[in-house]
Amino acid sequence: MELPQPDSAAQQHSAAVCAHILTEAQGHTLAFEQFMQWALYAPNLGYYSAGLKKFGSQGDFVTAPELSPLFGQCLANVCAETLPQLSQGCVLEFGAGSGRLALDVLQHLEKQHQLFPDYYILELSADLRARQQALFKEQAPEYLPQLHWLDSLPSTPLNAVVLANEVLDAMPVQRFVIDGEQLQALTAHWQGQRFEWQMQAPSERLSEAFKDKQAQLDSPLPNGYSSEINLNIKPWLQALSKSLNQARVLLIDYGQDQYNYYHPQRHRGTLMCHYRHYAHEDPFFYPGLQDITADVDFSAVAQAAKQTGFDLVGYNPQAEFLLGSGLPILLDQALAKQDYPDFLHTSQHAKQLILPQAMGERFKVMALSKGLNTSAPLGFAEDKRYML
Ligand SMILES: C[S@@+](CC[C@H](N)C(=O)[O-])C[C@H]1O[C@@H](n2cnc3c(N)ncnc32)[C@H](O)[C@@H]1O
Repeated sequence: MELPQPDSAAQQHSAAVCAHILTEAQGHTLAFEQFMQWALYAPNLGYYSAGLKKFGSQGDFVTAPELSPLFGQCLANVCAETLPQLSQGCVLEFGAGSGRLALDVLQHLEKQHQLFPDYYILELSADLRARQQALFKEQAPEYLPQLHWLDSLPSTPLNAVVLANEVLDAMPVQRFVIDGEQLQALTAHWQGQRFEWQMQAPSERLSEAFKDKQAQLDSPLPNGYSSEINLNIKPWLQALSKSLNQARVLLIDYGQDQYNYYHPQRHRGTLMCHYRHYAHEDPFFYPGLQDITADVDFSAVAQAAKQTGFDLVGYNPQAEFLLGSGLPILLDQALAKQDYPDFLHTSQHAKQLILPQAMGERFKVMALSKGLNTSAPLGFAEDKRYML
């Protein structure tokens, strides 16, 4: 696929990202997980840390909150159901992007439910934090006293509804290939001009994780099969669990259960890059200028959640979740306004959120609980935990 070429300033930025990776790696070959970490998050340089426009039609990809406020309004309904069960309950959002989701949630909580919770945002990127603050200053300065930006998880446990939309897919993954029936790590190797894939003996950490995963699958992964394992989600859940007293957590992302994730037909894995609305498979295309993601293995997330003190209380495709958490009522309300051009616009976006060939099936929503009753939250009256 012919990708659009970046201009010379952008190319220079990418060269600086490569130089940073090589200096930090102290060599020409590094684990892919480490490459992805620096390409996305190297301070002031990585894709999420530097000032590139990432979200929306001018950026590289569009997320559900950027598409329509309906998404945040449904999440707000789950917040409204849970917050009264929490003592001094707040909302904690990870990786808040442009700040759109936070704004939609707070506006809907105020208008529909008369709730004004404190809203914490844990944002790794200084640039995105500044954009989120600018959005609120411009569009809803009255919420600023409720908003708190965090650099790390709080040491005093919170009672919170936790939201993480498209955060897990942005965590660095390990990449592997089965070569001659042996597990090999796929590493990033600097060829002088650009990085390329190179096979290496796997680390003990990858070997152990792979052995565990293979034992849970029906048959051995075939020769030539390559895929990913995310070893960062469990430590993240562990740290999150420690910082929560009572909580409901909603994880929304693209991905599937492990049988589909490691299906023999998915033999090239799930790694995907996004550059100016082109989706492609080359993570070494101009490091720092593009998003790099991998699907989420929700079976692994469920196991890690149970091991770190959470109850798994729901798992559904995004369509089922949204239809069960208020989307039909929101559409009825939009229709009742009798502004038909506006309604057409709203319903087109609703379709993108729920149609199977758009985001409805590919995205899943997982609900976890801690220190609360384990009844199903809104959106999970019937759910698909049995798939995991
Ligand atoms: C694809 S963007 C999604 C942004 C936003 N949630 C949305 O839906 O538009 C991924 C975000 O996850 C954030 N992220 C990844 N790992 C994180 C972590 N461990 N803690 C907090 N944020 C993280 C990134 O910084 C980035 O802002």
